[in-house]
Amino acid sequence: MGHDRVGHVCVPGTFDPVTYGHVDVIRRSCRLFDRVTVAVAASYGKNGTGPAFSLDERIEMVEDALAECGIPGNTEVVGFEGLLVDLCHQIGAGAVVKGLRAMTDFEYELQQADLNNLMAPDIESVYVMGSRDYGYISSSIVRELAALGRDVSFLVPSCIERRLARRFGRV
Ligand code: PNS
Repeated sequence: MGHDRVGHVCVPGTFDPVTYGHVDVIRRSCRLFDRVTVAVAASYGKNGTGPAFSLDERIEMVEDALAECGIPGNTEVVGFEGLLVDLCHQIGAGAVVKGLRAMTDFEYELQQADLNNLMAPDIESVYVMGSRDYGYISSSIVRELAALGRDVSFLVPSCIERRLARRFGRV
């Protein structure tokens, strides 16, 4: 393994939809690294059903959310199918950055980190502690509240709130 310093990192996720929790992790990554690629996974097979939003919609939503939240220009958003470590090699990212909310995240993240390390030992896995304000946020909670017609303005940027309202028929 080389001794190259990591300047370019990947922040992956399904982002179905992007939340303030994700934006917080991306913002922190931008402070730590020179270049950040937000990688939106197709995740077609996840949980046996597909994501609520298409890959194109999720990419657009992340772009809109980052613009609304004033995330610095060293960020770009890409979609991917297949393995995360393959994407990292393709785009020259040296590490994957993810947020950790609670202990319950840990085992799942450890499993993914171990697997990724086995497949690509040159790619580091880096974890940032999410802001304590957002520990309870998840995309599935956002979808659940939006589907019930409840206020989600404290969980997602307003551009995402509007998308959810349209999707769940409450414009
Ligand atoms: O936001 P999520 O759904 O927890 O993100 C999970 C994600 C997309 C990072 C993970 O499922 C992933 O890396 N998918 C790509 C396929 C892959 O590389 N799998 C092997 C590592 S688990």
